[in-house]
Amino acid sequence: MAPETISFARGAPSADILPAEAVREAASRALESDWKRALSYGTGRGHPGLGEWIAELHGVEPERVMVTNGSMEAASLLFRHFVGSGDRVVVEQPSYDRTLLILDRIGAQRVGVHLESDGVDVERLAEATAGVDTVLAHVIPNFHNPAGCTLAQPKRERLVALAAESGFYLFEDDPYRLISFEGEAGKTMLEMDGADRVIHASSFSKTVSPGVRVGYLVGPPKEIAALAKAAGETFISPNMLAEAIVWELCTSGALEENIAKVNAALRERRDTLVAALEEKIPEAEFVVPAGGYFLWLDLAEGVNTIELLDAAKAEGVTFVAGPDFMLEGGSNSLRLSFAPVTTEEIPEGVDRIARALESTRSRAAA
Ligand SMILES: Cc1ncc(COP(=O)(O)O)c(C=O)c1O
Repeated sequence: MAPETISFARGAPSADILPAEAVREAASRALESDWKRALSYGTGRGHPGLGEWIAELHGVEPERVMVTNGSMEAASLLFRHFVGSGDRVVVEQPSYDRTLLILDRIGAQRVGVHLESDGVDVERLAEATAGVDTVLAHVIPNFHNPAGCTLAQPKRERLVALAAESGFYLFEDDPYRLISFEGEAGKTMLEMDGADRVIHASSFSKTVSPGVRVGYLVGPPKEIAALAKAAGETFISPNMLAEAIVWELCTSGALEENIAKVNAALRERRDTLVAALEEKIPEAEFVVPAGGYFLWLDLAEGVNTIELLDAAKAEGVTFVAGPDFMLEGGSNSLRLSFAPVTTEEIPEGVDRIARALESTRSRAAA
């Protein structure tokens, strides 16, 4: 019988680290104390209680916050609102594949700027935005998807200054900030912004669960009002029941408890993955992620990770090939997600990738 596939592909946690009991209890409490709001239509701004909690978390006025059905809905609203066909948008390389896809669908002119081990190359970004109208730059600051790196503090300051000088919006896409393994993550660019050029997105997908579909935007009041109006006109209201449950998790302390649990489990998975890679695929180069879900592998020149993926599937393991996250190139890179695999599965999964690498090489040599 073929072995069960070990999947490093999905950016979603394995079921054993989903907080079923905490959500069940929070739902029951929300339906005791907040049932009228939870079961009614809301507005485009989402649940007011949760909005206030988020505002306090970020030290801003509630008028700067809107709560959405996940941060991808927030990103989609934002891109469709700000970016027209032919508009220039800076994207990191590699970047989150769904961001690249939405921008492509809109017809945006996507300008790639490469990542370094401490985040986007800000000097290249400055060159890419100098003297040309750029609408927006999309940046994932913490525990990057897919690259695993974290944006250095001086680079954050430089980006905020560049956005103010050049007049583009800086979209700080930050769903992994609290999934931090080595203490608290650094300052947000939102905190540093004195010119109302930063729009920050985050989500409860990683701190509660992806299925709960609650995310949010924090940004300049005028833009948030316009986006909330667009959301209301499009969807009437986000899911008020889900938002009432998340609010209950936030205010009861259950969210904090869950984050501690999830981070401990993911940290162990990260450590196991790093050790297995060092032992079994020593040619692999990677940044050790200090949080989040992802590790990005650069393999030797000449490896084609799309072909490698076919061989890997035959060995019973999957990942996402590098080109999915790139405008061009990435053919010898791949993304491993350590969120959907248990610690026990990781060494065997890496063994299977190593075997697939060997088999593609011997096939090429034959
Ligand atoms: C960088 C980034 N932005 C946005 C999202 C979307 O998350 P959500 O589930 O909140 O829509 C993800 C999900 O993996 C992500 O990695």
